[in-house]
Amino acid sequence: MARYLVTGGAGYVGSHTVLALLDRGESVVVLDDLSKGHRAALPAGAALVEGRCDDAEAVAAAFARGPFEAVLHFAALSLVGESMQQPMRYLRENLSGVTTVLDAAAKHGCRKFVLSSTAALFGFPDRVPIPEDAPLAPASAYGESKLICERALAWAEQVHGIRSAALRYFNAAGADPAGRAGEDHDPETHLIPLAIGAALGSRPPLTVFGADYDTPDGTCIRDYVHVSDLAEAHLRVLPLLDQRSVRFNLGNGTGYSVKQVIAAVEAVTDRPVPHSFGPRRAGDPAALVAASDRLRAEAGWSPRFAALEEIVRTAFNWHRAHPGGYGGR
Ligand SMILES: NC(=O)c1ccc[n+]([C@@H]2O[C@H](COP(=O)([O-])OP(=O)(O)OC[C@H]3O[C@@H](n4cnc5c(N)ncnc54)[C@H](O)[C@@H]3O)[C@@H](O)[C@H]2O)c1
Repeated sequence: MARYLVTGGAGYVGSHTVLALLDRGESVVVLDDLSKGHRAALPAGAALVEGRCDDAEAVAAAFARGPFEAVLHFAALSLVGESMQQPMRYLRENLSGVTTVLDAAAKHGCRKFVLSSTAALFGFPDRVPIPEDAPLAPASAYGESKLICERALAWAEQVHGIRSAALRYFNAAGADPAGRAGEDHDPETHLIPLAIGAALGSRPPLTVFGADYDTPDGTCIRDYVHVSDLAEAHLRVLPLLDQRSVRFNLGNGTGYSVKQVIAAVEAVTDRPVPHSFGPRRAGDPAALVAASDRLRAEAGWSPRFAALEEIVRTAFNWHRAHPGGYGGR
């Protein structure tokens, strides 16, 4: 059994990864300020240090619970729209968080680090599926902040010998298949929970941003990767860090349009999804799909929940069992 520090472990992807670590018999300390996450999302068995990851004292308190085999760094501001209203805050806080934790890792001799990075690094990609070596050209301050975080990792390796994995997630979706955790963001900006909420009547009708894209049905195409598959990818890349640092695009490898997501939600819930079509949203590329073959080949990862309906079903099961989410709304 090894011990891991998970920042942002009370959040959506973090809590599912904490579950995956605990299921494997590992020990977990979570550093989270609960600004977006939920105490109730923390599985029993994970210790919580409540504090900010850009606060050196809080980070020191977390490292006092070590030694850690690795840090998994999920904590970040991550709303694209908000980042275009407060760009400096995004650049400052996301870089400050990762560098504060990296400094502490160096000081405590922790030499493995996994960063939650993002498809937003690629902005408007010129080819889809997007490989790791596609040009890095973020179209939002959020994407830029994560690119700078990736660059910080390179310096941490050069100077401190910290090996890292940057995992560029596409769209995390779904919920723990055993129902132990799910998605509860406020505000919720992700399509699947919004569509399920619209179907259940717990959220307003859905607005689809643009039906005139250059895609087969005119709506945007995204790559939805099941959150438990994302969590598993973290466990799969950790052994690679014994040898080298890695950067992987992390998606299902299959794109689904907004209309296909609505159809899947209607099939799974057996209810209509009330929706209307609005204008395009600034900054939305027509299609974002990961080329995930490198992660598959080099880390032996493959998604267990590749079909959209399976992903939607796990999300629906969680929302049906937790109509108020973790209790916030
Ligand atoms: N969800 C996605 O589809 C997606 C896609 C690409 C990248 N990502 C990245 O993955 C990570 C996790 O995403 P998520 O959807 O689980 O987000 P989330 O908001 O659900 O979780 C983030 C967690 O970090 C905590 N946190 C935020 N700022 C903090 C700080 N300064 N100090 C301590 N704790 C802090 C929050 O309270 C929350 O529990 C983020 O870094 C995000 O940018 C997510």
